[in-house]
Amino acid sequence: MEQLSPLISLRGLSKSYREGNTERTIFSDLVFSLPQPYAAAIIGRSGSGKSTLLNLISGIDLPDQGDIEVLGFSVSAATEKERTLFRRRNIGFLFQFFNLIPVLTVWDNILLPLSLNSKNDKTSLARAEHLLHRVGLFERRFAYPDHLSGGEQQRVALVRSLVHDPELLLADEPTGNLDEKNATIVLEALSSLLREERKSLIMVTHSREALGIADGVFTMENQSLVKSS
Ligand SMILES: Nc1ncnc2c1ncn2[C@@H]1O[C@H](COP(=O)(O)OP(=O)(O)OP(=O)(O)O)[C@@H](O)[C@H]1O
Ligand SMILES: [Mg+2]
Repeated sequence: MEQLSPLISLRGLSKSYREGNTERTIFSDLVFSLPQPYAAAIIGRSGSGKSTLLNLISGIDLPDQGDIEVLGFSVSAATEKERTLFRRRNIGFLFQFFNLIPVLTVWDNILLPLSLNSKNDKTSLARAEHLLHRVGLFERRFAYPDHLSGGEQQRVALVRSLVHDPELLLADEPTGNLDEKNATIVLEALSSLLREERKSLIMVTHSREALGIADGVFTMENQSLVKSS
């Protein structure tokens, strides 16, 4: 069987932010890797660098030093254009505040990642319909986001994050803005879609329930990542 490249491989990663005269070190010589497919949960106190880590993995932000490889692609050595293309094709995003576009219907929100990847073919449209059915919202496809509940909006956002068939989903507190019942519904959909398609997840979360869908939990502390379960 063909050996898959690591999901992520971080080597000698350093990142700090300068504000005025003070420099805040987020990571210093961080070494970390995950196999694929893998569902990782990342916890850690506010300000420890969890969102920064996701931004480095997706190539939105760059490290001061070190190598970042994602799915065999060297993010840290790529040009901005290469990083944008890589991110668009291979990564899906799920956010705490859903981030749906209010002037577009559910269906048009979902088609956006397909248009960005010039993937408006029959197979991709059928995938969009299939995923909407899977989260129970096919009948609501012509509704606007502000007519949907928070839980429904997050299920639409979940479909949007997976519609272009990315290998890796990055999620930052995906249930942070949902009540318990909706969090359960979103997590169940997320977990079953990931496992069916053998996709990987790196999820920042504080929710005990969300930790339950992860293969491993890692804590961000003292500028590094430590496996806690
Ligand atoms: N662009 C920036 N310029 C300066 N400092 C920044 C910048 N982005 C983040 N920081 C700082 O880096 C640290 C890590 O931020 P980050 O957003 O990664 O934390 P976090 O672990 O995601 O926190 P939270 O749980 O509150 O979301 C924080 O102290 C933050 O203030
Ligand atoms: Mg954060």
